[in-house]
Amino acid sequence: MSTDYSKYSTADAAPIAVNMLESFRAVGYNMEAAVADILDNSISAGAKNIWIDFEWKGADSTFSLKDDGCGMVNDELINAMRPGSKNPNEERDINDLGRFGLGLKTASFSQCRKYSVISKKRSQKPVFWTWDLDYVYRHAKEWKLIASLPDGNWNEQIQNLYSGTIVIWQDMDHLLKGITADNQKAYNKFLQTMEYVKKHIATVFHRYIEDNKIKIFFKGREVEAWNPFLIKHTATQSFPEEPLQNGKIKVRGFVLPHKSKLTQEEFSNAEGAKGWNAQQGFYVYRNERMLVNGEWLGLFRKEEHFKLSRIMIDLPNSLDGQWQIDIKKSVARAPFELKDNLKAYASQIRARAVEVYRHRGKVIQRNSVTQHFQPVWIEKQKYGKRYYEINQEHPLIASMDLKAIKPLIRLLEETIPVPLIVINESENPDSFFRPFEKVAASSELKELLKTVYKSLLNTNAPEQAKSRLLLIEPFNEYPELIECL
Ligand SMILES: Nc1ncnc2c1ncn2[C@@H]1O[C@H](COP(=O)(O)OP(=O)(O)OP(=O)(O)O)[C@@H](O)[C@H]1O
Ligand SMILES: [Mg+2]
Repeated sequence: MSTDYSKYSTADAAPIAVNMLESFRAVGYNMEAAVADILDNSISAGAKNIWIDFEWKGADSTFSLKDDGCGMVNDELINAMRPGSKNPNEERDINDLGRFGLGLKTASFSQCRKYSVISKKRSQKPVFWTWDLDYVYRHAKEWKLIASLPDGNWNEQIQNLYSGTIVIWQDMDHLLKGITADNQKAYNKFLQTMEYVKKHIATVFHRYIEDNKIKIFFKGREVEAWNPFLIKHTATQSFPEEPLQNGKIKVRGFVLPHKSKLTQEEFSNAEGAKGWNAQQGFYVYRNERMLVNGEWLGLFRKEEHFKLSRIMIDLPNSLDGQWQIDIKKSVARAPFELKDNLKAYASQIRARAVEVYRHRGKVIQRNSVTQHFQPVWIEKQKYGKRYYEINQEHPLIASMDLKAIKPLIRLLEETIPVPLIVINESENPDSFFRPFEKVAASSELKELLKTVYKSLLNTNAPEQAKSRLLLIEPFNEYPELIECL
């Protein structure tokens, strides 16, 4: 039951406009994240094309984002420019990328002191409004928009669209305060920032671009998507999708190809904005828009030998609260009850990524549909716990008198020193020998290889037998010995 306050007096505690707007500036956006937040609005407004432009004039430079979305009429635009235009708890259309009713304001003010929006709905006249922080300063208490537009052909640009919106940033003081147009060093830095923006956009909206849902033009040039998972590369290993949280979210892991499988160009392109090591981890998407660009969400640390693992997580916008999506749309936190599941899934991908990283995965790639890779050990799960079994289909093991060696196999399976191996591996990742590495090319390995080869020849032609050997552990690691048979 709510308290009855009717007998109490009240006092006005409305926010002081200028203080509030100044605080918006400190939400913590960088230029890239701010631009992405404005693009979210364009996508939610159904835009098919988005044009990002800038004009260099030192401190007087302008930066603009134009879309051909549905546009707004006057009341809608005023409401759009109002901080807190929507309640975060309000249910949104499933394709809406917004949540807080703040992005347009916080993202813009994080980068500039003055911004304008001009918008046009189909068959309507364009409308425009400007927020100017210095104007608000002079009229300190008032949340007042100004009916002005910056110099330029904005009106003409919007008239050329059936409908759409242009957001124009001016006085970008964080980047350009006091900079004159002839300052070459500052110009180069500005161009570099623009380059980051372009990369970030190519990353965050890659699924929209790939699916031809939107085209983004950066200074007139179409932005190409950056896909973190190298999905089209034949050497990428993609794992089955796993539904979690009652099927509301989907997780899907990828192990990227070993460096030796990539051309120099593919290798440097795949390293993304942050570099190979930093790009490992979860990629969290909300309505296909990337929020988290390669982070382990506090579940693991980033380490060199896991750098080939990248895992996609898809969230609907109905889980915003549980995943603690932040205003900047660049943070998400896995709900507590999901952490164990995510960790278990990611561990499989990471384990495979280490194999590939150490070049063990190299031959498995070539397997055909009809032939399986035959490892010596198989990982299994029961009652949520893991254990390891010896693969009795492995040709060498299958060729033995299984009945006679069964007790030995069981003994090995039950006593494999997993904790010790795990501790050693995490403390000193590269300190293990590869199978038969310490005796590489020794007679022991060759003898084993010959034995299996001979038995395969009973049912296979020589070339076929060799190609099967390439799929049998540990011979897969020694293709040169197989060649010599
Ligand atoms: N480019 C645009 N085209 C059409 N409408 C827009 C555009 N940009 C903003 N709007 C309208 O203005 C509203 C406020 O936008 P704003 O980015 O401030 O908040 P939001 O998108 O609702 O939520 P969030 O804070 O999560 O971004 C939007 O909900 C939308 O109705
Ligand atoms: Mg928004």
